Amino acid sequence: MQTILISGANRGIGLELARQFSAAGWSIVGTARRPDEATELKALPGTEVLPLEATDPSSIDELVSRLGGRPIDVLIANAGVAIHLEATPVEVTREDFLAVLATNSFAPLALAGALKPNLLAGQHRVAAAMSSLMSSITANDWGTQYTYRASKTGLNALWRALAMEWRSIGITAVLLRPGMVATRMTGYRGIPVEMSVAGMKMVVERLTPADAGRLIGYDGSDVPW
Ligand SMILES: NC(=O)c1ccc[n+]([C@@H]2O[C@H](COP(=O)([O-])OP(=O)(O)OC[C@H]3O[C@@H](n4cnc5c(N)ncnc54)[C@H](OP(=O)(O)O)[C@@H]3O)[C@@H](O)[C@H]2O)c1
Repeated sequence: MQTILISGANRGIGLELARQFSAAGWSIVGTARRPDEATELKALPGTEVLPLEATDPSSIDELVSRLGGRPIDVLIANAGVAIHLEATPVEVTREDFLAVLATNSFAPLALAGALKPNLLAGQHRVAAAMSSLMSSITANDWGTQYTYRASKTGLNALWRALAMEWRSIGITAVLLRPGMVATRMTGYRGIPVEMSVAGMKMVVERLTPADAGRLIGYDGSDVPW
């Protein structure tokens, strides 16, 4: 059975990813900061919920140790935050900036690095991270969202470097853009989460090594850097 590990799988896009891959017969490892409260995730067939505070290296170590070398076919580093999106330059605090970067840029890289042996043991060997159109410098023609944008542009830079490093060992690393999706993060504005995730699932299932390093929309199109 194919196994997918999804971080931040207790709600939003992560939960829907777990739902759709579970429905397709995959084995799911879903992470949550508070597994006891992840009732919807826990109820999905073939799903194991493990604790992960993505910004804490010791929590990542604990996750790796609980997995104990189990093969992971697909990693989706999905956990992310967006805070004070409307803050003006003087309202952007150092604390907010570093907190958002820790979650959206550092944590996915740290998680992928720690799970490298598990990915190498898998069949698919796919590592995907959840980026955003807000990562795009080219597409930014209206400003705002300073910390979030920087964190996702940073993620793109890190993940692209990872993709170049890992293509020689057969792991295909890509960045995904889910679109603007109706979740808690967006105040439930945007396209239905089912639609975004159905598209991303198809993208993930069709990946080949030639896709390494791409930033891919939920509709399969390339997103400008
Ligand atoms: N929704 C959109 O329109 C949109 C667009 C582009 C990109 N994205 C990206 O897609 C991903 C999922 O977003 P979403 O819309 O599903 O957001 P969401 O509903 O707010 O869910 C965020 C998930 O990330 C988890 N998380 C946050 N910080 C974490 C941490 N430090 N450690 C572990 N888990 C953490 C949350 O866990 P808790 O429940 O414990 O807080 C939750 O499970 C994010 O990376 C986001 O940036 C979303």
